[in-house]
Amino acid sequence: MKKILTIALCLMLALSLAACGGNTVVEEATDATEATATYKTVTDGVLTVATSPDYAPYEFYAIDENGNANLAGFDIELAKYIANELGLEVEFVPMDFDGVLMEVGLGTVDMGVAGLSPDPEREKTMDFSVTYYEGGQAFITTKANADKFTDLASANQAGLQIGAQIGTIQEDLAKQFSADADLVSLPKATDIIAELIGGKLDGAYIEWDVAESYQKNYPDLVLVCEVPYEAEGNVIGVPKGNEELLAAINAALTKCVEEGTFADFVAQAQTLAEGEIVEGLLE
Ligand code: ARG
Repeated sequence: MKKILTIALCLMLALSLAACGGNTVVEEATDATEATATYKTVTDGVLTVATSPDYAPYEFYAIDENGNANLAGFDIELAKYIANELGLEVEFVPMDFDGVLMEVGLGTVDMGVAGLSPDPEREKTMDFSVTYYEGGQAFITTKANADKFTDLASANQAGLQIGAQIGTIQEDLAKQFSADADLVSLPKATDIIAELIGGKLDGAYIEWDVAESYQKNYPDLVLVCEVPYEAEGNVIGVPKGNEELLAAINAALTKCVEEGTFADFVAQAQTLAEGEIVEGLLE
């Protein structure tokens, strides 16, 4: 019943927005007192979202029964949910992860949703939403190399080829915990999986849940151990200074998590990621 009411409210909001011609100034009736929230988006009436769909179950391309690749993952569903709550259309702009950081920093998109960790360094160039997911960090290898690694200390040996995605906190983790090894930085998380499976890398740093997800499609992957990282959890990156938009995103995000919808998104994404998916970004 509550759901039906929410849908009806969303519909009413969408209709009233359509009647206004989709202005960027969104009037949101939260209760009978008609509180108004105003925020600007890059394009009127649209929430432009940068994402890096090389990261199942966060964001990836799932192939449907007709062979078409569609953006999927719990970050994608979360962004759609937020746009809907804000009465905006959603437009995804897929790119490599370092591109997401750059575009959010430049303010050419309204938000970056890409399994982003709240690294304090990044706060110089963007604002963070509240945390919406708790994911740990992993050091991974393949079955063929598993006997080289017993713990995190064994990941720090000269001559090892250790992978991490460009611009990620995993690059920092590699520098910290595998300082004596050779760091191989690659643009996509899926490049890392491919190079590991192909035997070009000995090990890599990646988000724990991403490793688990790819392990289902590549049973050769081995999760060696967890890697400690202080700024835990995942947040949405929002261009600096757009406080009204950040507040609206936080309100929608909190609602999504608290009502349990986000947990459903996670479960759906995990199942979808076990099916046929595209390895990397579409060209
Ligand atoms: N959590 C890590 C970071 O923020 C990696 C995120 C990579 N995301 C992706 N979609 N490839 O640095």
